[in-house]
Amino acid sequence: MELIKAQRGTQDILPGNSERWQAVEEVMRDEAAVNGISEIRTPVFEDTRLFQRSVGETTDVVQKEMYTFEDKGGRSVTLKPEGTAGAVRSYLEHGLYNSPAPQKFYYLTPCYRYEKAQAGRLREFHQFGVELFGTSLPLADAGLIAFANGLFDRLCVKNLKLKINSIGCPTCRAEYTKALKTYFTERKDRLCETCRSRLDRNPMRILDCKEPGCAEAAKGAPRILDYLCGDCKAHFEGVKSALDSIQIEYEVDPSIVRGLDYYTRTVFEFVSADLGAQSTVCGGGRYDGLVEEMGGKPTPALGFALGIERLLMIMEAQQIEFPEPHPCELYIASVGEAARKRAFQMACGLRECSVAAACDEVGRSLNAQMKYADKLGAQFTLVLGDDELEKGLGVVKNMKTGEKTKVNLNNDIEGQFAAISTRAEDEEDLSF
Ligand code: HAM
Repeated sequence: MELIKAQRGTQDILPGNSERWQAVEEVMRDEAAVNGISEIRTPVFEDTRLFQRSVGETTDVVQKEMYTFEDKGGRSVTLKPEGTAGAVRSYLEHGLYNSPAPQKFYYLTPCYRYEKAQAGRLREFHQFGVELFGTSLPLADAGLIAFANGLFDRLCVKNLKLKINSIGCPTCRAEYTKALKTYFTERKDRLCETCRSRLDRNPMRILDCKEPGCAEAAKGAPRILDYLCGDCKAHFEGVKSALDSIQIEYEVDPSIVRGLDYYTRTVFEFVSADLGAQSTVCGGGRYDGLVEEMGGKPTPALGFALGIERLLMIMEAQQIEFPEPHPCELYIASVGEAARKRAFQMACGLRECSVAAACDEVGRSLNAQMKYADKLGAQFTLVLGDDELEKGLGVVKNMKTGEKTKVNLNNDIEGQFAAISTRAEDEEDLSF
């Protein structure tokens, strides 16, 4: 029978790799907690209109990439292509604005975009995202960027470039849009069909079109930074000086406009040379108008999302060491039926005390059990046979150092093992 395979652009995260995911997710959760950011979990599918209104009708994401379908009740639903829209919906639906500002949320979520699958570009991918509501100060932008930067530092990721830009507010963007329209109208024949249709409705979207003709035509386009109004200029200066004050290096790159419609003012991306074509690992910015557009009170907001697959690709390319997981702390090998039973009892007792203990479950020879313990990466082993059971004495062996410690099998084995393993832990040096 033909084996059914995973869908194009999706991937299984298998044992051996899943521990790496857990390790980075743990750092993200931990850093979020230190920064007073609480987790928000929103559904994987939402009313299609949510993304049309927030991400924007003229974006690539909405025009080409959404997983949209009718459910059995005839409603149009869409698998979330990103996390911001759902967070904003939830913020409004549950009146989260009633708690003191700024409200800070993070999420770890799968996202879905029907894109041409390639290295670093998947149809199901995962984001760690942060959204902050209720603060308009430039310090908040710098603080958010510093948070992402700190996360990369904590994960030992090197050689990232931080690019920042300001894309202004609706006031300054009106002038800019006019200039862009004139510019691209003169080059209309070089634009793809989608971009020609964007010319009237949203010419800024042409700037992030992936078609080579459009990218070429965009090269000499007017720059938004030259059109910023006084307030937006002052805000951008404030962000830059706050970043300077905490020694975060950045490059002002006027070509960063981001691919989603909700942004205002500050936008930023962290890019890596270790990623190939899909070089952006993290992107975000301010979206001061979105909450109001979605039906709430005017509320300044900002956030970013980091692609976990891309992060792990960089970490792999940079050969960053991950903390060694110890799936097995103590393997209790046994010889003979009575010893196997005793090993089983002991392993169950130890697991109740949160010790990752394992014993023979398939009837292997002692030799095969020891090989298996090695495969499990057991930190310690203990061999039980008739002799050990009779005397009530066993020997716990540290598999790394070879150190042996006698244990009394009839008395508080958990306590004795705890003392042995704590001693070994003190000597270990963990990564990250
Ligand atoms: P985005 O730039 O579309 O922004 O995505 C953020 C990150 O998700 C990217 O930098 C990348 O690492 C990852 N990513 C995006 N698409 C794919 C893909 N097809 N395959 C693999 N990874 C991908 C947003 O989604 C905004 N919601 C970020 C944000 C939050 N802005 C404000 N708050």
